[in-house]
Amino acid sequence: MIELYSKAEIDKIKKACQIVSDVLKYIASMVKPGVVTYDLEMAAREKTKELGGIPAFLNYQPPFSKKKYPAALCVSINEEVVHGIPSKTKKIKDGDLVSLDFGAIYEGYAGDAALTIGVGELSEEKHKLIEATKKALYSAISECKPGKYLYDIAKSIETIAKESGFGVVCEYGGHGIGRNSHEEPFVANCTSVVIPKMNAQLKPGMVLAIEPMFTTGDGSVYKANDGWTIKTKAKYACHFEHTVAITEDGPAILTEW
Ligand code: MF3
Ligand code: CO
Repeated sequence: MIELYSKAEIDKIKKACQIVSDVLKYIASMVKPGVVTYDLEMAAREKTKELGGIPAFLNYQPPFSKKKYPAALCVSINEEVVHGIPSKTKKIKDGDLVSLDFGAIYEGYAGDAALTIGVGELSEEKHKLIEATKKALYSAISECKPGKYLYDIAKSIETIAKESGFGVVCEYGGHGIGRNSHEEPFVANCTSVVIPKMNAQLKPGMVLAIEPMFTTGDGSVYKANDGWTIKTKAKYACHFEHTVAITEDGPAILTEW
């Protein structure tokens, strides 16, 4: 069942989302060559506390995993697509593509967003990968109107991947969000998986986390030995995510940064 949230509830989700955006902006400003990813984790925890929120992912067991996620932040670098675990031994270097993914809870409501930062001088390929993935996110968001379908979201993401020559990750995707970080429906990034999963019509009150993931190569991924990090066998991956409410007037981005 897909939850329909009232205006008052969406306002509460928005408060959680504003904490997410503020934390992400703060952590993004720390991303520089030489920074250890564990320092980003600690800074994210501190900033969330300061803003009155609770990290949503720390010790959280998402529906797609048998294990609890051990950190508040996901930091996924280069060939890592999503769910990279911050580590004391992992340093950011010049030219890295760094995806930061963060969720927060505020008064019982959740928000979730992600962005990818290019560190220092970027090759044209990396620059294009970032631009294409961001474009796919905003294109998908523009489909978030009453009467459209989950299919339209997947189609818009897939179309931009095709146009730009990048692979799109189909095994993972977005999700409903609100009282929980992950709710129905699965918001697929590929039309081939919408129909077997669920092709619901979008209605006012739905709140969706939309998260396109693009890679160089063909978009196929595998899970690393740590049981969390999703990687591409190709060189680079990119990920952007916003929490979006469907309203009578169209999409409302709740995690605007
Ligand atoms: N935004 C990511 C997702 O929805 C973050 C998940 S982290 C985890 O998949 F804790 F849930 F693993
Ligand atoms: Co998410």
